[in-house]
Amino acid sequence: MKTKIQEKFKALFGAEGILYASAGRINLIGEHTDYNGGYVFPGAINFGITAAIKPNGTNTVKLFALDMDEYAEFEIGSETLPDKHWTKYIFGVCHEILGRGGKVEGFNAVFAGDVPLGAGLSSSAALESTFAYALNDLFNQGRFEKYELAKIGQSTEHNYCGVKCGIMDQFASLFGKEGSLIRLNCKTGEYKYFPFHPQGYKLVLIDTCVKHLLADSAYNKRRESCERAAAAIRKNHPDVEFLSDAKRLWLDEVRGEITEEDFIRAEYVIGEVQRVLDVCDALERNDYETVGEMMYQTHFGLSHLYEVSCEELDFLNKLARKCEVTGSRVMGGGFGGCTINLVKEELYDCFIQTAVEKFTEKFGHAPKVYDVVISDGARKL
Ligand code: GLA
Repeated sequence: MKTKIQEKFKALFGAEGILYASAGRINLIGEHTDYNGGYVFPGAINFGITAAIKPNGTNTVKLFALDMDEYAEFEIGSETLPDKHWTKYIFGVCHEILGRGGKVEGFNAVFAGDVPLGAGLSSSAALESTFAYALNDLFNQGRFEKYELAKIGQSTEHNYCGVKCGIMDQFASLFGKEGSLIRLNCKTGEYKYFPFHPQGYKLVLIDTCVKHLLADSAYNKRRESCERAAAAIRKNHPDVEFLSDAKRLWLDEVRGEITEEDFIRAEYVIGEVQRVLDVCDALERNDYETVGEMMYQTHFGLSHLYEVSCEELDFLNKLARKCEVTGSRVMGGGFGGCTINLVKEELYDCFIQTAVEKFTEKFGHAPKVYDVVISDGARKL
């Protein structure tokens, strides 16, 4: 990929660029907890974005997306967004850096990636993180801390893409470390690396290849439900800043004051925050059975309480149980995308074969299978 990017960069701009890369992510557990101030437990993966970038001494950003074979440009400081949909991520990152008093001048860039799009592996966060990291290095002498770069990516989603996401994806993409998952407290920003080498197990993703329409607006609606539930609880318990601060009992106290829908959304979140801690404890004992059981519980919650699963994902989850897979659940925002599966090595082949066969039989298209390796996040190559 690097060679192709540099060749294109040379062909377009006359010399080679400086290479930067960042990664997509998985999340072992802790879904829809980030914007509730709870814990998440992601890691960066071996699918990412690579970009060749170089300041060009003008006020113009010139971009080439190799995978799409598309060119776009915009002026720094201009409010006019180019019409190619992928430019909003880079445009947003530039504006968010400027808005924080940072510096961005014109540059040339060619980029490409291998994060499957729409699969819930955070291809957009990988793109934002690559550019946030690079522009911090090239124009700002690294003045922004990595956590601030993650916030720059997150604000790009909020302000330029209409998704009121949490910090998890951009955080994982920037902080990822080979062989480690990271437990992040999304309220305080404290994080801890957990080496993750499950002896005798494999992590595999199965991609339904479906993405439901209106997924972004449904995501924003989930967030609003949580905020309403937290606000109701706060009346009795003023210290509750986020839903993750609330005890289950406190949610029961306000059951009559909020809608049943908001109640079950909040019920899921409060349970999920605890599951992340339980999984971390289990991992420290190498107790993968408990880790797996928690993953199934998360799937149940995401499917029946948070209602962000879909028929295809539920089908894969049930099949995983039947094949005696240790843990399985929908991963990421939901409404399509992948399941993440923790499976014993000796059961792997049988599970994959059965899943591909049965899924294809039922839905008329084959799912995709990704073996993931926990890898490094944003870096200069
Ligand atoms: C998406 C968002 C994240 C997070 C997950 C669900 O990936 O971008 O911030 O909320 O969904 O855990």
